[in-house]
Amino acid sequence: MSANNFTAKKAPILQVKNLQTGFKIDGDYYNAVEGVSFDVDRKQIVGVVGESGCGKSVMSLSIMQLLPQGIGKIRGGEITFEGENISEFSDKKMNQIRGKDISMIFQEPMTSLNPVFTIGYQIEEVILNHEKISKKEARLRSVALLKSVGIPRAEKIVEEYPHQLSGGMRQRVMIAMAIACQPKLLIADEPTTALDVTVQAQILELLKGIQESNDMAIILITHDLGVVAEICDEVIVMYAGKIVERASVDELFNNPKHPYTDLLMKAIPKMTEDVEKLATIEGLVPSVINMPQVGCRFANRCPAAMPECLTVTPMLNDVASNHQTACLLYDSSWPEGETRQREGATIQ
Ligand SMILES: Nc1ncnc2c1ncn2[C@@H]1O[C@H](COP(=O)(O)OP(=O)(O)O)[C@@H](O)[C@H]1O
Ligand SMILES: [Mg+2]
Repeated sequence: MSANNFTAKKAPILQVKNLQTGFKIDGDYYNAVEGVSFDVDRKQIVGVVGESGCGKSVMSLSIMQLLPQGIGKIRGGEITFEGENISEFSDKKMNQIRGKDISMIFQEPMTSLNPVFTIGYQIEEVILNHEKISKKEARLRSVALLKSVGIPRAEKIVEEYPHQLSGGMRQRVMIAMAIACQPKLLIADEPTTALDVTVQAQILELLKGIQESNDMAIILITHDLGVVAEICDEVIVMYAGKIVERASVDELFNNPKHPYTDLLMKAIPKMTEDVEKLATIEGLVPSVINMPQVGCRFANRCPAAMPECLTVTPMLNDVASNHQTACLLYDSSWPEGETRQREGATIQ
């Protein structure tokens, strides 16, 4: 699909096509993200869920080109932002985009904030990097930004250092920095995981509010489907480096298909239940060096697995409008009971 002038207006802001990202371990590359494709529309909030180690962060670091140098590498696929293939951009070109058109916030703000500089200095640095305005104007803007993310005494906070703030306040500062240049896309990688439940809810509400007022798209990464239900439009479920299900939020919650999604949903804490009763999914996500070469990567943990699941690699198939899953149970091209290697079902 090429974006011509006629369709350009409606084109998604971000298109990830068949992304393969690998890590060099003992001289060989092993893929942590394997053939991931999805679109993010303008102003849309797309949730990405999956247990720890499923490739959520690697996928977002790939989009930002922030993979550890010399170790992590985009090995295939395309990442198109506003019609341009940014996976081929040089560092210099990416620097112009990062923080301006696409921003990212991380789980632990202390790792992204510099302890030796004031909050104000760090926000102003982002602004001055991308815009030709005076330091005085940048200071005024950072105070306004801090106010907009709900930080009280913003005039005073700009003079303070990160360690003087609480975790929730630091995350607000990170959000202020991320939205300083009004990016069109924000990637939020587990932005509330390190915070207590009340603060989590406030930060999610803040993100939703900013998304609406700034017409920004968000990729919200979390291991918690409950968070997704709060604010997302669409959801991508990742398992072991692949997308196993994708749907609108309503469709996913009303009509989950993949057994993995089902188990993740059972792991959402409910107000009425004891936390101890929470279902946990037995077993572990395979490590990048131990990925099954054929078949479904979830098969050995799946309560619904059939013998074929070990030999036939499931592809993402439509199961309803705006709903796909990669599971042989829902694959119409896979007649029940038949065992054969399906064409095109290859992974390396
Ligand atoms: N620097 C690295 N070197 C080798 N493997 C890595 C590195 N970073 C991440 N990985 C591996 O990539 C896989 C996906 O990790 P990650 O994207 O961080 O998972 P998630 O964010 O979903 O918890 C994991 O198996 C992880 O061990
Ligand atoms: Mg992560």
